[in-house]
Amino acid sequence: MNFKVTPWEVEGKIDYDKLIEFFGVNKIDETLLEQFKRFVKGDLHVLLRRGYFFAHRDLDRVLNDLKNGKKFFLYTGRGPSGPMHIGHLVPFIFTKWLQEKFDANVYIELTDDEKFLEPKRKLSLEETRKWAHENILDIIAVGFDPEKTFIFQDTEYIRHMYPLALKIAKKINFSQVKAVFGFKNETNVGLIFFPVLQMVPTFFEDKNCLIPAAIDQDPYWRLQRDIADSLGKSKSSQIHSKFLPPLTGLEGKMSASKPETAVYLTDDEKTVKEKIYKYAFSGGQPTVEEHRKLGGNPDIDVSFQWLRFLFEEDDKKIKKIEEDYRSGRLLTGELKDILIEKLNNFLINHRQRREKAKELVNIFKYEGRLAREMWNKIFE
Ligand code: TYM
Repeated sequence: MNFKVTPWEVEGKIDYDKLIEFFGVNKIDETLLEQFKRFVKGDLHVLLRRGYFFAHRDLDRVLNDLKNGKKFFLYTGRGPSGPMHIGHLVPFIFTKWLQEKFDANVYIELTDDEKFLEPKRKLSLEETRKWAHENILDIIAVGFDPEKTFIFQDTEYIRHMYPLALKIAKKINFSQVKAVFGFKNETNVGLIFFPVLQMVPTFFEDKNCLIPAAIDQDPYWRLQRDIADSLGKSKSSQIHSKFLPPLTGLEGKMSASKPETAVYLTDDEKTVKEKIYKYAFSGGQPTVEEHRKLGGNPDIDVSFQWLRFLFEEDDKKIKKIEEDYRSGRLLTGELKDILIEKLNNFLINHRQRREKAKELVNIFKYEGRLAREMWNKIFE
C-alpha cells in the first residue's frame, strides 16, 4: 500500500476501500443506513448520509439489540497535544448527534498520559494537562448534555480505572502490542502500557459500547475485541470516519507542526481567509478562460470537500455548488469565498460557546449526574 494509517501517523493518499479490507472492518452500506433511519426522526446526519462515517464493526449488532430494548453508550476521546483543529471536531459533532438521537450516555477520555509519553512530542506532563483543559472547552462547546456526559483525563481519573487496567494488561503480551502498534524495543514502557487505558472506558457500562472516531484509532479496538471475551465482557462496536483532508491536498492528515495544513478552532477571521486563499488546494484551471471552458474538479478541490464534509448541510445547495464548479460557472475564488464565510460563521459561534463552556467544566468533569456517578465507582 502506498499510504499509511496508524494512531500516530497518516501518510499518502488513503484508499478507504483498501483500508476496510486491510483493517478487516465492514462498510456502512445502504441496508445499514436504512436500519439506522428507523431509529432516527428526520434526516440522518450529513456525516453519515454523505458517507464520511463509512465503516464499522458490529454496528448492526448495536442496532439489533436496540430493537430488543438493549441500549448502548458512547465513548470517544482526544489526545491533548496542542490546540484542536477543525478535523478533531468531526467525531465529537457526530457523537453529540448520536447522544441526542439515542438519548445515550457519553464518556470522553483525554489522554494527557499518552501525549506526554509519545517521544516525538516532547511535551511535559504539565503541558499535556494544560492542553487537556483547553481541549475540554472546545469539546463542551460542541453541545453535549451535561447530565449525561462525563469528561475525564487519565492522570486524574486513573485510580478509578487502575484495577480494571491491570486485569486487561495481564491479558496482553508484548508481541501483541508490538504487532498491533508497531512498538519497538526502544519504545518506553509507558507507551507500551498506555493502550490498556484507552480500552478501559469501553467497559464503563454493561451495555453495548459504541465508539465514534476516525479510522486511525482502530488498532485499539481490535485489541479490545481480542481480549473482551477472556474478561467475560463485551466486545466494543465502532463507527469509523474518514479524515477531513488537510487544506494542502488530499494526502496525509492535518498536522500541528504544519499550520498551513489545518484551520484551528482559534484561528480568527482574517487568518481563516488567508489560509484558504493561500493554501486550499484547488481543482480549478490555471486561468479564468480555461476554467470557464473546461470547468473545475470538485473531487480534488479541498474547499469543495470541506463544504461537503461539514459546512454546507443543505443537499440541494451542495449539489448546485458541485455542478456549477464542474461546469466552470463557479470560479475557484468564488468557491473559496463560500467556504470562508461558512467556516468563519461556524468558528464565531464555536468561540462564543467555548466562552460559555468555561462555566460548565466542573459539571462535565465532577458535578453532573453522570460525572458524580463515575467518581463513586471503581472499575474492576
Ligand atoms: P486524537 O487527539 O489524535 O484525535 C481526536 C479524534 O479526532 C479524530 N481525528 C479526525 N477526524 C476526522 N478528520 C481528521 N482530520 C481527524 N484527525 C483526528 C481521531 O480519530 C479521534 O477520534 N488516542 C486518541 C484519544 C482517545 C480516543 C479515545 C479517540 C482516547 N480514547 C476513544 C477516540 C475514541 C487520540 O490521540 O486522538
